[in-house]
Amino acid sequence: MVQNDNEYYKAYLREKQARDELETLLEDKTRSLYLANQELEANLAQLKRQHAAILQSEKMATLGVMSAGVAHEINNPLAYVNSNISTLGQVVKGVSDLIKASQLFADNGLDQQAFKETVKALEEKYQLGFFAEDAQELIEDCQDGCQRIAVIVASLLDFARPKNNEFVMADMTEAIDSALGLLANQLKHIELIVEKGEIPLSFCNLAALNQVIINLLINAKYACEQAKTKGVCQTPLIKLLLRHANRQLLIEVTDNGTGIEESQIEHVFEPFFTTKPVGQGTGMGLAVAYGIVSEHKGTINIESKPNQGTKVTVTLPVCTSD
Ligand SMILES: Nc1ncnc2c1ncn2[C@@H]1O[C@H](COP(=O)(O)OP(=O)(O)O)[C@@H](O)[C@H]1O
Ligand SMILES: [Mg+2]
Repeated sequence: MVQNDNEYYKAYLREKQARDELETLLEDKTRSLYLANQELEANLAQLKRQHAAILQSEKMATLGVMSAGVAHEINNPLAYVNSNISTLGQVVKGVSDLIKASQLFADNGLDQQAFKETVKALEEKYQLGFFAEDAQELIEDCQDGCQRIAVIVASLLDFARPKNNEFVMADMTEAIDSALGLLANQLKHIELIVEKGEIPLSFCNLAALNQVIINLLINAKYACEQAKTKGVCQTPLIKLLLRHANRQLLIEVTDNGTGIEESQIEHVFEPFFTTKPVGQGTGMGLAVAYGIVSEHKGTINIESKPNQGTKVTVTLPVCTSD
């Protein structure tokens, strides 16, 4: 009996030791898992920050490429606002001289004949009759010009502002319209065909898609201009198409530019791959577009023939917010 108890006790001790060892092992493993998890989370956060920084710097580089065209776009209305204001300044001078003469006449400082002559002289000097008709139009043109500048500046600021994951239910046509608005001046010398079909709302990041369209249009424009310089194409043409079919949205940007050599086509989505001189490209346009389209669970494809042109096809599933 005593012998048996002893055996039980020994067995109990062995089992307890095994359990203690197991617990220590489990604690050690839990601790190292926890530490590994923390490290992973820190790495993920750092990756997210780096991803946002790359997106932002690519956007800034795109802004650099766009800036000449945008400056021109602002300069145009600015020029006529300036000229209208200086004309209106002359009119104001004439009108204030006219008011002074009227006051003098009212105070009997001028007789009727002298007043008539003064009015006639002022009319001729400042062409007041002509401006009386046109002043309103000059003012409206100024307001129009200021409004155009305000819209351009607002779109630029909106484009440059860092944005993270702003997914909302929206109409992607807005991303296309805002890209076309920003690039209106740059695409002036290119025949632009835009075909936009009715599309449903989809859960998307409009600012990011705007960036995709801008990148594709800038690439197409550059390729067209190069082709024209090389004499490969006479009439640069870009076609932008937006369509909806079978719960898929399709965006196509086609150009008749230089096209891409077969050996290069597999590299165009690689970060920093560029065939452009410094200042014209960063090599990040298509890489960023690829990233954004993937975030939308879509696909982006490029087909191209040297000296004939390029077609970039983006497909995006129509998504709801849940
Ligand atoms: N529409 C296009 N026509 C011809 N080549 C293109 C077109 N789009 C892109 N490419 C080629 O792909 C390369 C990478 O494009 P992208 O990533 O936008 O960078 P970047 O425009 O800064 O060079 C370009 O340098 C060019 O060689
Ligand atoms: Mg580019």
